[in-house]
Amino acid sequence: MTIQETSTGDLTIEALDAVETVETVESDTGEATTEELAAAAAARFVGILNDAAIAVLTSIGHQTGLFEVLAALPPASSEQIADAGDLDERYVREWLGGMTAARVVRYDPAAGTYRLPPEYAAVLTSAAGPNNLAILMQHTSMMGEMEQKVIEHFRRGGGLSYEDYPLFHRNMAETSAAVHDLALVDGILPLVPDLPERLEDGIDVADIGCGSGHAINLMAQAFPASRFTGYDFSEAAVGAARAEARRLGITNAVFEVLDVARLDVRGGFDAVTAFDAIHDQAHPARVLRNIRRALRPGGVFLMVDIKASSNVEDNIALPWGSYLYAISTVHCMSVSLGLDGDGLGTVWGGQRALSMLAEAGFGGIESKGVDSDPFNSYFVART
Ligand SMILES: C[S@@+](CC[C@H](N)C(=O)[O-])C[C@H]1O[C@@H](n2cnc3c(N)ncnc32)[C@H](O)[C@@H]1O
Repeated sequence: MTIQETSTGDLTIEALDAVETVETVESDTGEATTEELAAAAAARFVGILNDAAIAVLTSIGHQTGLFEVLAALPPASSEQIADAGDLDERYVREWLGGMTAARVVRYDPAAGTYRLPPEYAAVLTSAAGPNNLAILMQHTSMMGEMEQKVIEHFRRGGGLSYEDYPLFHRNMAETSAAVHDLALVDGILPLVPDLPERLEDGIDVADIGCGSGHAINLMAQAFPASRFTGYDFSEAAVGAARAEARRLGITNAVFEVLDVARLDVRGGFDAVTAFDAIHDQAHPARVLRNIRRALRPGGVFLMVDIKASSNVEDNIALPWGSYLYAISTVHCMSVSLGLDGDGLGTVWGGQRALSMLAEAGFGGIESKGVDSDPFNSYFVART
């Protein structure tokens, strides 16, 4: 056990191994004292504290455009960086200090300049496309904002409503657009054999829980002979979807404000999609049955949902397992419970998803993956 010997400056790095250290001490020797194990656990949590703060600074860096500014500049002073980003120098300097301590930004004390190394620009700027991890850091900040409201529901049950999250639709649209812009037409739709050809010929497609509608608008542009309908119960999201469609001159897509638990279409569509929109439903089983009924014979349902196991013990190995449970606690499960729903949760898992699809009457169900989207499973189910 070397945790106590490390200098304070190295605690963060050491903490990365601390979970393993705790487990090694437990299993190898059987001699670790509670004090030693507690020292390892403490080191781990110091690291977590620091990493959580880095996540918030990263979210700020994304929203202020500071990563884009740094990536475009040669080594620059805080004044030059603030000027280029049209931001207040004192705030920018403090942020640069934090990101330098995080070993993300590099500081040259002699020159008084900061730079973003290319390996970090590659994962924290728009150049990274769907791999821009700075986008996801906004979710950490959103969780912090919602903490007090969620704690109330720990005490008295029930849950929150989508309206409680002012930035939810904006963050969600940005997160999914990064994947869809890169892969929807050329990588995701071809997961369903013959779907691209049928879309070329002209079919009727619905998207369930379409949010701000970017997926529908992308498909409508790519397949002008097909007709698209997006359903969402958020007026704000549907408003954004319609505005984007107008801006792009799209005429083969419509958007409807509708609670899809009340979707009452019989055989109206050849294909239905749902992008991360089933697990947070209040009544997911009813929605799956409604989708099944809305499809014509030979129709197909492409359900994209979080890749995880239905067994908590399997999710320990998932590098972002805790993040998924946290998002569920603070948002996805809570909005379902807030509508007196089932509270299925973000981590309902592949096994449960497959069985619920089968219970809704789907057949020929397959689970697939897309390289550029490690967070999701792609379920293809047929009528
Ligand atoms: C996680 S977001 C996904 C949005 C979008 N598909 C995307 O990928 O960006 C889930 C969406 O489902 C919508 N939603 C949840 N329950 C719904 C319901 N019962 N009826 C209609 N929309 C619903 C929410 O308003 C939200 O826009």
